[in-house]
Amino acid sequence: MRLAMFASGTGSNVEAILQAVRSGTLEAEPALVFSDQPEAPVLEKARDYGIDTHTFKPRDFASKQHYEEELLQLLKQYHVDWVALAGYMRLLGPTLVTAYDQRIVNIHPSLLPAFPGLDAIGQALEAEVNETGVTIHYVDDGMDTGAVIRQETVPIAEGDMKDSLAKKVQSVEHRLYPQTLQQLLKDRSEGVHHK
Ligand code: GRF
Repeated sequence: MRLAMFASGTGSNVEAILQAVRSGTLEAEPALVFSDQPEAPVLEKARDYGIDTHTFKPRDFASKQHYEEELLQLLKQYHVDWVALAGYMRLLGPTLVTAYDQRIVNIHPSLLPAFPGLDAIGQALEAEVNETGVTIHYVDDGMDTGAVIRQETVPIAEGDMKDSLAKKVQSVEHRLYPQTLQQLLKDRSEGVHHK
């Protein structure tokens, strides 16, 4: 199973996935890492793991559709089966969503449908809830709206600030994403479909 990863930033989740592949707990073949941000630190992380990287910007294309058609070409060229979004800060359009229906997943730092979109951790603190969490879901063309595959709760302690809560959430993400991908791939190869 050949996996592409899309990310716009730091890439700690991409790194967790690549680490899980290296240690054998995730039986996927990382095909490439794509970023819409040529300067994103994730690209160097991926290269450190010997993974091919590609980057181009939507604004260099006539439309979102053209941009996604180029991406689709790339995915085909690398024989990609699944796509994992990891901090990819764009909504996917119908070109990609249709071509990879039920084979694109995303990780989001809240218990969706609570706190979709940007700064989910800040939103949770603002709302003064006593727990938040991590969601892994299929991607459709909405903002964090696809069917939920797995969620895990993260308690918010009194006095938690953005940094401390982000650390707790990230440590769950780094375990949960590779684990869930492994489960998904295994289930799908056995004909079990989560939805
Ligand atoms: C993660 O919190 C993920 O849930 C969200 O974006 C963040 C990406 O972080 N979608 P990183 O680039 O993987 O460190």
